[in-house]
Amino acid sequence: MNDKLQILQDKIAEAMRGGGQERIDDQHRKGKLTARERLHFLLDPGSFEEIGMLVTHRSSDFGMENQLILGDGVVTGYGTINGRLVYVFSQDFTVFGGSLSETHAEKICKIMDMAMKNGAPIIGLNDSGGARIQEGVNSLGGYADIFYRNVMASGVVPQISAIMGPCAGGAVYSPAITDFILMVEGTSYMFVTGPNVVKTVTNEEVSAEDLGGAMAHATKSGVTHFTADNGLECIALIKKLLSYLPQNCEDTPPALHYTPGDEERPQLQYLIPEDSQQPYDMREVIHGIVDEGSFLEVHKDYADNIVVGFARLAGKVVGIVGNQPISLAGVLDANSSRKGARFVRFCDSFNIPLLVLVDVPGFLPGTDQEWNGIIVHGAKLLYAFSEATVPRVTLITRKAYGGAYDVMNSKHIGADLNFAWPTAEIAVMGAKGASEIIFRKEIQAAQDPQAVLAEKEREYQEKFANPYRTAARGFVDEVIQPKDTRRKLIKAFAMLGNKVAHLPRKKHGNIPL
Ligand code: HXC
Repeated sequence: MNDKLQILQDKIAEAMRGGGQERIDDQHRKGKLTARERLHFLLDPGSFEEIGMLVTHRSSDFGMENQLILGDGVVTGYGTINGRLVYVFSQDFTVFGGSLSETHAEKICKIMDMAMKNGAPIIGLNDSGGARIQEGVNSLGGYADIFYRNVMASGVVPQISAIMGPCAGGAVYSPAITDFILMVEGTSYMFVTGPNVVKTVTNEEVSAEDLGGAMAHATKSGVTHFTADNGLECIALIKKLLSYLPQNCEDTPPALHYTPGDEERPQLQYLIPEDSQQPYDMREVIHGIVDEGSFLEVHKDYADNIVVGFARLAGKVVGIVGNQPISLAGVLDANSSRKGARFVRFCDSFNIPLLVLVDVPGFLPGTDQEWNGIIVHGAKLLYAFSEATVPRVTLITRKAYGGAYDVMNSKHIGADLNFAWPTAEIAVMGAKGASEIIFRKEIQAAQDPQAVLAEKEREYQEKFANPYRTAARGFVDEVIQPKDTRRKLIKAFAMLGNKVAHLPRKKHGNIPL
């Protein structure tokens, strides 16, 4: 009997060693935590239950039958984070470089299936050399099994991918389908083809870091939503992100206790510059509205002419989308439209109400934008807002010009409540451009065309550089003092708390991808 008990103890000890002390030391030398250390820091103490610790691969090629390592390069199971159930997998780079075998994939699929059945988030900690080269198509099939589940789980449970080491080749497509990607600076990279293949095919010389490191994907491609200085910071960020998310699409995000108090925010009253060409930071508006310290910005370093992120308003989670006047005057372009649309769809999938802050001079002109498809990318944002059934509240702080007025959660596309500050300007276009078009003949015929243009501009400005025409039509429900904004929004979202809205019956829509 004792022998049998001892056998189990020995097997557990063997599994805990992973690829052995030497490789664990290597991992530490590279500045990386091991798969088990990461789970230790991620999950509540004592909450982790491992599933599949004794799994081994089935390969017998290239002498693999003599290299069986318990767990086969991925630690899988479930546990809690701040008391809430999550399913996790953590790839173990010390075992065949964390490469994905058929059985490694089966372990991941098993916990994904459980997460979907039981309605809890899936968190993947990725650190892998990609497909297990010795296994050929079995490994490729394993990847596809995971991709398929990523798609099936999309919109059902939140999926979070932390990239904490290599993630290359087709392996990148699992994180890409998940809701959020986090990358660790200096130790992680993602690319479809690495620097060597790039050099062969395009003759470009580029380092792995420049090609697919955390900053490249945070600033250039927008593939990653967050970056972290190191593994521990990345894990802390996952926990923070999770605190804003519900467990599944039937659930609502966790609310914090809130004691009503004085909701007046005097700092908002004079935040908008007198001169409407002057920029200001939309984050200041956000901080002035939401619960103190509650704003978590998503995609902070990418397309920063739009700001998106989660925050709490009276303890309840809201998703915020705001034009950012300090970057490109807050104009909408292809990338900011895609960024905004993706965030809106996430919020709508998971019952997170939307607060939209508008200060937008229009869409960015130019061949670069047109040839990069701003038409379809802008349409994504329009589509995403239009089909969102969560409570949707808009505040126009200043400019709302042209098509961008419609797109930015206008009344016409289904917003529930639309507020404007007295500084709002809502028109087809800016005063100068508008005057040049509609008064062209008069201006050309004038003795002093500049004076006439200036006069017409003033006239147009006076007519439209205010929110009152829009309010008169009911397209803006209320013009409010900036200092009252927080109070108004708390009441608005409380009023909309039981909103029920249905889309027309369909298989699924056809968002302009
Ligand atoms: C099997 C692998 C492996 C792999 C690494 N190892 N990648 N074993 N399959 N894909 C093993 C190594 O043999 C080594 O074993 C150990 O992991 C650590 O690898 P090192 O090379 O020593 O580590 P490092 O120097 O840090 O380099 C990491 C690496 C490199 C950059 C990831 O290992 C590498 O380039 N691996 C191959 C990457 C690759 O081409 N993968 C296939 C991509 S295509 P020992 O026993 O020496 O410790 C793909 C398709 C997916 O993934 C398609 C899905 C649709």
